[in-house]
Amino acid sequence: MSGEKESRRVERPTFNVQRSTSNQRNIEYRKRMTNNGKSIKNPPIPAFAGTCFTSGASQDGDDSMKKKINIGLIGYGFMGRTHSNAYCKVNHFFDLPYEPALHVVCGLEEDKAKAFADQWGYQSYTTDWRKVIEDDKVDLVDICVPNNVHAEIAMAAAKAGKTILCEKPLALNGKQAREMVDVIEKAGVPNMVSYNYRRVPAVTLAKQLIDEGRLGQIFHYRANFLQDWTISTQVPQGGMATWRLDVKAAGSGVTGDLLAHCIDTAMWHNGHIKSVCAMTETFVKERMHAETGKVEKVGIDDACMFMCRFENGSLGIAAYHF
Ligand SMILES: NC(=O)c1ccc[n+]([C@@H]2O[C@H](COP(=O)([O-])OP(=O)(O)OC[C@H]3O[C@@H](n4cnc5c(N)ncnc54)[C@H](O)[C@@H]3O)[C@@H](O)[C@H]2O)c1
Repeated sequence: MSGEKESRRVERPTFNVQRSTSNQRNIEYRKRMTNNGKSIKNPPIPAFAGTCFTSGASQDGDDSMKKKINIGLIGYGFMGRTHSNAYCKVNHFFDLPYEPALHVVCGLEEDKAKAFADQWGYQSYTTDWRKVIEDDKVDLVDICVPNNVHAEIAMAAAKAGKTILCEKPLALNGKQAREMVDVIEKAGVPNMVSYNYRRVPAVTLAKQLIDEGRLGQIFHYRANFLQDWTISTQVPQGGMATWRLDVKAAGSGVTGDLLAHCIDTAMWHNGHIKSVCAMTETFVKERMHAETGKVEKVGIDDACMFMCRFENGSLGIAAYHF
């Protein structure tokens, strides 16, 4: 099902882009974006200024007008809202040559997709993600759906030449992630996984301090991400609200959901990881499944303890709980 919204989106004016420092950095960045020495199609605009990608923009820095990037958002839940909010605000905060345009939103329930489109100003909505991929006007496919749907959408989007922003964790497992990366690299499309913690101001500041050598040599890296929302045995698994606790939809528990963020942040701060050792535990062994109503074995991990050795010789230790 798909539908055009009755009310039309109010067009925002476009602005001349000043030759500011950030714009200059964007231009320099694009010049650096190469694929084995060859220019890649539509290289991404860097995250100096949040998350913004190009769509068919000029590559030579001749940006006299903001270029529109038509967004095809798949998933109108928690992250769908968060990303939509960022698309609406990014041009107010940063001087970018590009302007996201909320083109189409997709989700499983038609009434919710329509309500989301109305609330945020998307021009249309659909319940079939394939329609987003087939839409020639869509420049960027933003994947904000449960983890088990990432791969199929991302690979189809890559084959259709779309720019891809995919939520973390990239895939259900390493094998699936490798397959996605191979397809996307072959397609040569700009792409990014939403490891947004890099842009938390304190995390960015820590990166600056490390890079400037102000912390000296790093010996220890510690990370904790502690939640407690799954501790009750009454929380079900599966369904729209608690798909994260269903291994078929999530792939893993806290390891993919939270540790993935912290591994990315750790590598960004402190370089590559050479070796790891970890243990996981599922404290609540059975939960009712929200879709079947039956008590079923839990396949995700509730907790993970993680130790690693970085290539720079430092040691990392981390604890995670849902
Ligand atoms: N980067 C972060 O900080 C962060 C935070 C939370 C979630 N996430 C990730 O974002 C993704 C989405 O999480 P969420 O919390 O927004 O989930 P959510 O449950 O709030 O929303 C999921 C959305 O996906 C839609 N959906 C499900 N299956 C679909 C399908 N087959 N086709 C089209 N739409 C479908 C649902 O209708 C719903 O709108 C997950 O991969 C999650 O790991 C990332």
